[in-house]
Amino acid sequence: MAYTIKLGMFGAWRGSNYIDLIAAEDEDVIKIVAVCDKQAKKLDDVKGLKDAKLFSDFDEFLNYGKSVGMNAVFLANYFHQHAPYAIKCMEAGMDVVSECTSASTLKECVELVRCVERTGRKYMIAENYPFMTLNLEMKRIADGGTLGTFLYAEGEYNHSGTLETMHYLTPFKYHWRAWMPRTYYVTHAMGPLMYMTNSMPKYVSARAAHSDRLEKVRDFRPNDDGMARMFCEMDNGMTASFTGCTAMASDYSRYRLVGDLGSVEQSGYTGDKVRLFYEDYTLPEGVTEEVQYIEPDLSYWGEKAEKALSAGHGGGDYWIVQNMIDYFANGVTPFFDVYKGVAMSATAILGWRSCLNHGENFKIPDFTKEEDRAAVEHDDLTPFPDENGEGATLPPSTMYGKYDN
Ligand SMILES: NC(=O)c1ccc[n+]([C@@H]2O[C@H](COP(=O)([O-])OP(=O)(O)OC[C@H]3O[C@@H](n4cnc5c(N)ncnc54)[C@H](O)[C@@H]3O)[C@@H](O)[C@H]2O)c1
Repeated sequence: MAYTIKLGMFGAWRGSNYIDLIAAEDEDVIKIVAVCDKQAKKLDDVKGLKDAKLFSDFDEFLNYGKSVGMNAVFLANYFHQHAPYAIKCMEAGMDVVSECTSASTLKECVELVRCVERTGRKYMIAENYPFMTLNLEMKRIADGGTLGTFLYAEGEYNHSGTLETMHYLTPFKYHWRAWMPRTYYVTHAMGPLMYMTNSMPKYVSARAAHSDRLEKVRDFRPNDDGMARMFCEMDNGMTASFTGCTAMASDYSRYRLVGDLGSVEQSGYTGDKVRLFYEDYTLPEGVTEEVQYIEPDLSYWGEKAEKALSAGHGGGDYWIVQNMIDYFANGVTPFFDVYKGVAMSATAILGWRSCLNHGENFKIPDFTKEEDRAAVEHDDLTPFPDENGEGATLPPSTMYGKYDN
């Protein structure tokens, strides 16, 4: 019998973005059976959802899910609390798709991979930026081999905003967005580079820069650096440099891939095309121009690529739903599995310690190896306070002091 993904949505703010996309799929393939959010007004936004029961309490949501055969959960809850809930869901026999980030401490990274291996459940991260149409075009070109050996990859994710936007996105004092150091939201800048070049990070060093503009709103957002930039040695020999979430006066996001034969990039100034460059002495056969602006070749990604065009985040959200279907229903493991997820989280976590210690270089654990896991399994340093403002063991900004290793 065909497998139906019976999905529970945990967190109905970001989570609500996925509801229409999922409703557009065949309900014999995927449907939402329950939604949980502790805020009544967020549940109001999803009231029209057919056949889904609404909950404000996670345990009641999970218990109901067990009783109706819910077999997967989409985690769109608070950024720093994904891992413990992912573990609860997998222990309850459900597959998990998690919003970024996978884990907020190294200890959680270890617990998460061990849980996936112990339970045999499927786990993927909903990192959508690699699947934006323009980033897919960069990947298509990278896969073609004409760029030569990858030397350098660069990613920049920018989410600056007005004071009103900052208040809207930071609804209470100990909300994660107020305490998240600039390295932590790393997946949007780093994930596309990993995907385009099929690489994993091995070492990280990083630096952050202070923002006078943000210091003025320190009373409600103590994380007043304007950006952090990480520099990684990757396992394919290239270097990668990328930001976390930045608050810069700059284009929204940009990506660049440089090889020894050619380079490709996309950003605000390339519009809806990517810019491809070869030297006159490295032109591939059949190419006559050194600089080309190329429209995405959707046919490379099959019939579905057209449907992605209208989806959120440059089409990326659409592909997350397709990856879920391919994985949970058809067993095709996506690129962003649990090992890629925790590798990105660990880069962010260690990148922050590097920022606090003048760019110190850190080895990123290989979470497939038990000896690497054992070395960090008790490491629970975190910048995130609990709901009472307790428990943070790292500063949220480089202005608050340095971490001594
Ligand atoms: N990939 C993307 O493009 C993208 C875009 C936006 C947000 N996100 C991610 O989505 C996640 C959620 O972000 P957001 O923008 O929705 O803001 P948010 O984190 O403030 O919202 C989380 C929602 O989950 C609910 N929630 C949290 N803990 C709960 C609990 N224990 N019980 C019941 N409800 C609970 C909250 O009430 C809230 O509505 C974050 O990880 C964020 O990084 C990703």
